[in-house]
Amino acid sequence: MCGIVGYTGNENVTPILLNGLKKLEYRGYDSAGIAVINEGKLELVKSSGMISALCEKVENRPAMKGTTGIGHTRWATHGAPTDQNAHPHMSNDGRFAIVHNGIIENYVDLREELIQCGFTFLSETDTEVIVHLLEMYYKGNFRAAVMKVASRLEGSYGLGCICSDHPDTVIAVKEASPLIIGVGAGETFFASDVTALVSYTKNVIYLDDGELCEMTPSGVSIYDFAGRRIEKPVSRVVWDIEAAEKGGYDHFMLKEIMEQPRALKTAIDHRIKDGRVVLDDISLTPDYLKTVNKIVILACGSAYYAGCAGKYTIEALTRVPVFAELASEFRYSNPIIDEKTLVIVISQSGETADTIAALKEAKSIGARTLAIVNVVASTIAKLADDVIYTRAGPEIAVATTKGYTTQVAVLYLFAVYMADILGKIDSAERMRLLSEIEKIPSMVQRAIDLNRHIPYLASKYYKNTSLFFIGRNTDYAACLEGSLKLKEISYIHSEAYAAGELKHGTITLIEPGRLVIALACCERLFDKMLSNIKEVKARGAKVLGVALEGNLRIFAETDDGISVPRFDPLFCSLAEVIPLQIFAYYVAKENGCDIDKPKNLAKSVTVE
Ligand code: G6P
Repeated sequence: MCGIVGYTGNENVTPILLNGLKKLEYRGYDSAGIAVINEGKLELVKSSGMISALCEKVENRPAMKGTTGIGHTRWATHGAPTDQNAHPHMSNDGRFAIVHNGIIENYVDLREELIQCGFTFLSETDTEVIVHLLEMYYKGNFRAAVMKVASRLEGSYGLGCICSDHPDTVIAVKEASPLIIGVGAGETFFASDVTALVSYTKNVIYLDDGELCEMTPSGVSIYDFAGRRIEKPVSRVVWDIEAAEKGGYDHFMLKEIMEQPRALKTAIDHRIKDGRVVLDDISLTPDYLKTVNKIVILACGSAYYAGCAGKYTIEALTRVPVFAELASEFRYSNPIIDEKTLVIVISQSGETADTIAALKEAKSIGARTLAIVNVVASTIAKLADDVIYTRAGPEIAVATTKGYTTQVAVLYLFAVYMADILGKIDSAERMRLLSEIEKIPSMVQRAIDLNRHIPYLASKYYKNTSLFFIGRNTDYAACLEGSLKLKEISYIHSEAYAAGELKHGTITLIEPGRLVIALACCERLFDKMLSNIKEVKARGAKVLGVALEGNLRIFAETDDGISVPRFDPLFCSLAEVIPLQIFAYYVAKENGCDIDKPKNLAKSVTVE
């Protein structure tokens, strides 16, 4: 959720912190702040609003000089997004400043205890207890005090702390919240996401839960919570900073939409070898897969809709029942799963709290778990029994695009992989399916090329305040994602409806001029869809039809059309989503919305 960053080295820390925060802004953007040790004294600047407001404040005050500091960009949970509730928080004696990503669950008791001890609170946050505890436990040994504080905290925290008595030291601690250490030459960094570090160093250490890292310009020392020294490997980040920059596009979202052919190629290509799906990364054995009698897919938001899309293909090819469930609901549903259930959790960030909780629940009941994740070494990637990385590269826009389509592509690969193991497809069919999957990147490019008129459609329809997406089967799965995209970034109310269900109540909402986006790529159900299109047209709706290239029947019935390249119906819904992403993008643009950072949202939701 929130983004945190820290540095100690020989450079002026202020621009490093502000640049880092700009890279992390997608994690939360309602307020921000930095703290710097300047000539042995802590200086703090905080501001409600986006990072640009903080930068302005920093520019309009005396220079914050120093070589050690921390920063934070917030997505408010406890307390409104005000200057006072923004991080960093400072101790009453002015010696400590901290930034925190996560939630301290026992903060009410701790706050009470600290007030009794005479500490004054300036914010409504759960976080502020941490800095007062630090002051309370500090007896000259910074690390020992942080360690003691960690032992009092319940909940999740990625924590960065500085102390004016130790101007060359930053201490970071991790528990159930992401934290990455960057190791440079004569400088060290920490951040909640590798994107904030990669322009300075590609050498990173992924901290695990229950670890503390003491950083100085000359290097890092890592400890467990019992105070034992730990040696951890330094990993190399494989992508360049350009991957996390806009590269000439107006928005990250448009750049990420256009990157999809390449991202999908990376997700797919190396996993098809000699006519077979090769999932090197997983240890699921054929013997185990043959015992699986149910697959449960758990995820949130678009990742859940990727699961809905994957369900059709996995069921069609393996004949194993698949249930896509919302992670936030699963946990409290007393789920009926056992060792014969394969649980697939899907998450772009790998840090979504609801998905993590559902994964833990599934594991505790004895299910085998497989994660489909984009962010390397994220919590979900580490927790699951197996992980398949989507390899989409960094995704910065809050509304996911390439994250979603690479998840669906991995599910398609998995469907063929499992069908092959179960003997449900022969080698000719396997080869045919795989050659179709190999075509996905070029089909996606074609879906972009075929629809250069979408900005025009957006300019025609952007004033609609409420609309419907309708479709059947795999088209319905694409409706779910298309509708969510539009809601997320354009703030226009829309509903995804199974086309056959509309007449069972919701058709009352169809009135003259209402826009209905009708997805009809599933050609075996085409005639049924045509009837549904006629039903809404008869009630005055304007219909934007989405159908396979060359399907003239639909375009004769609808007001406007979007074409999707023709390929295997089992894999079609992936390409179908592309024009819907583009439509959402241009509608949001017409409406003047902040496309990459929609109001109230955050990219990685680390609270339940
Ligand atoms: C948030 C984002 C959504 C995203 C969902 C799941 O709600 O705003 O866009 O789909 O989290 O995220 P994940 O990282 O688990 O895929």
